[in-house]
Amino acid sequence: MLKTLLRKMMPNRHNGRSYWSARYTKAAGHDKAVGDRRMSEEQIRGAYAQKLEILQQAWRQHWPGGATGRLLDAGCGFGYYTEGARQTGFDVLGVDFIDTAVAEARLRYPQCTFEVGDLTRLNLGRTFEAIISLNTYVAIVDEVDWRSAVQRVAAHLAPGGLWCLMDMLAEQLTSPDHAAHIAYRSVAQYAEILQPLGLRIKEHRLIPIHEFGYDETLLMITR
Ligand SMILES: C[S@@+](CC[C@H](N)C(=O)[O-])C[C@H]1O[C@@H](n2cnc3c(N)ncnc32)[C@H](O)[C@@H]1O
Repeated sequence: MLKTLLRKMMPNRHNGRSYWSARYTKAAGHDKAVGDRRMSEEQIRGAYAQKLEILQQAWRQHWPGGATGRLLDAGCGFGYYTEGARQTGFDVLGVDFIDTAVAEARLRYPQCTFEVGDLTRLNLGRTFEAIISLNTYVAIVDEVDWRSAVQRVAAHLAPGGLWCLMDMLAEQLTSPDHAAHIAYRSVAQYAEILQPLGLRIKEHRLIPIHEFGYDETLLMITR
């Protein structure tokens, strides 16, 4: 109801679904579809490998005895991190709302499970010990959708679990890119939504992405 009203008041908003659908069609199968388009495929792969290592460090810190259990990759794209999590020991599910991205993820990583789903309405009927979302929320421009997607994904975090959210956030921007398909939020904005849901940001860390020459932020969120 509120969503419909807001949409009527702002008819010319960026449409994330159309944007991502077109982008996945245009760059079919190429990592530029998911990664930073200003970079080469080699740089994108280098940055992905670095970010996977950061995730693995965070999992080791949270579960010194080894990481196991269910993991949700929210906004999985081609599933690079879903597969990295599977290899680390998680029972993984990747979700993305673009079916061509999910089809490519299934082709690349048949050992993983992928589903087409919209994070703003996510209701999988189960919780996950671990959640990851890499550059997913920066891609949700609409404020109402962004808020819903944070809330719906938060609802899937099991008690004692860890949600690693990595993104470009407002505070740490060294090279702001004001493209219409991205929106930057602050640590404080995340904290404000998460707190009433019983979640907290136990740590936030600046991550210099070597290949890209700019920083991202890792939020480690627990329940
Ligand atoms: C920058 S890409 C990152 C993909 C992947 N996490 C990675 O790092 O390779 C952002 C992804 O978020 C997905 N996405 C954006 N809004 C979404 C939504 N409401 N529900 C599900 N996926 C969404 C897009 O389709 C896209 O695959």
